[in-house]
Amino acid sequence: MSGIERKALLQMTADRAAQYLLDLEMRSVAADVGAVDLLRQKLDFDLPSQGQSDVHVLEFLDRFGSPATVASAGGRYFGFVTGGAVPASLAANWLANTWDQNGFSSVSSPALAAFEDTALRWLKQALGLPASAGGALVTGATLANFTCLAAARHQVLKNVGWDVEAQGLFSAPQITVVVGEEVHSTVYKVLAMLGLGRDRVLKLPVDDQGCIRADNLPILNGPTILCLQAGNVNSGAFDPAAALIPWARSADAWIHVDGAFGLWAAVSDKHKHLAADFADADSWATDAHKWLNVPYDNGIAIVRDADALHQAMAIVAAYLPPGATRDAIEFTPDSSRRARGVDIWAALASLGQEGLSDLIDRNCRQAKTMATGLQDAGATILNDVVLNQVVVAFDDDTTTHEVIQQVQDDGVCWCGGTNWQGRDAMRISVSSWATTDEDIDKSLTAIVNAFDEVRQTKQTI
Ligand SMILES: Cc1ncc(COP(=O)(O)O)c(C=O)c1O
Repeated sequence: MSGIERKALLQMTADRAAQYLLDLEMRSVAADVGAVDLLRQKLDFDLPSQGQSDVHVLEFLDRFGSPATVASAGGRYFGFVTGGAVPASLAANWLANTWDQNGFSSVSSPALAAFEDTALRWLKQALGLPASAGGALVTGATLANFTCLAAARHQVLKNVGWDVEAQGLFSAPQITVVVGEEVHSTVYKVLAMLGLGRDRVLKLPVDDQGCIRADNLPILNGPTILCLQAGNVNSGAFDPAAALIPWARSADAWIHVDGAFGLWAAVSDKHKHLAADFADADSWATDAHKWLNVPYDNGIAIVRDADALHQAMAIVAAYLPPGATRDAIEFTPDSSRRARGVDIWAALASLGQEGLSDLIDRNCRQAKTMATGLQDAGATILNDVVLNQVVVAFDDDTTTHEVIQQVQDDGVCWCGGTNWQGRDAMRISVSSWATTDEDIDKSLTAIVNAFDEVRQTKQTI
């Protein structure tokens, strides 16, 4: 392929991608079932012996792939705490993929190392975390939890004279891991991966918002890791860090925060009080692909003691401190890696402190509007809407399921289901830069109409 042909291919792709985004306004937010079936049929052939033309491959992708997607890049997708991608970050992601740099070290890509250093520095500033903390850009909050808890495992065992990276966990002193009953399921997965075990955790009871109760706390002994949550995936509520951190500190425990989306409250003057007390922890996991609105996959691990992170992640036993230039391979679970720092840097550069803070405040305000409108229509809001999450029930569990289905089929917006403290509910997560107030109005009308229709159908039966 000549340079000119390659340029034409990339331009065609950029045009199609831009058109895809423009078309989102007109289409159903849910993936079109027929389009997904067609895509599967079209993909149902064996690896071709002869390669197809690049233009053909791209045309296929757009013709059959694009209509089968979920419109999560648009403003009316409220499922799974899913952010969109701010334009500068999406475009930066394209350009950085074009560079095709390997971000494992400052030698393999000095440019990526520079962007990553700056992204980490700006993230710590934005989130109000210590400038001297170590950091790692990983695939998402799951791997950010993994990275932080690996550093925690290192340090609490080092404190009792055990080198876990060298000796593993065989015959190691026991570690007590303390979580709340509402801890995110991915933390259990991470504990399993780290050899700390899903089932041997000490679970603390929670209140009606899913926050750990700070009364009747047990006495902690020996190597201990406490996992706190800044932003419950359903209610958006924050564990009472001001009470729990001193309790854990007095037992010399490592305090970890899963703040996949909630930690971003720290960037807003209106909402920073929710996250402020978590700044006293030892490690923080969050996502960039949620509320920072960068493309997948982008998660962030920050560890107060950079050396603990380095010791846990070093490619060879970390006898020497890292050099003046940071090599990502020394701080992250992966080796060869893509340009996450570029996506994050571009989002932060294009938003700035104020833009970021406005994004958080706008989404929180929109969540409140949604909750008020639904309540006025006779639905029951099950959580205190402190952040961007609304958990709502419609009459009974059956009605709630039917409303969710009706909303998804209708396609104006997309909301998923959850179970909140024994009750089936719809979960609405407002986390996208692309969500306008008009999107909220349209979506609210669509949900209320679906509720009315389901109620009317029930009355006529
Ligand atoms: C509190 C919390 N922790 C962890 C995760 C996992 O995030 P990811 O899917 O980016 O790994 C989520 C996802 O919603 C979450 O809400």
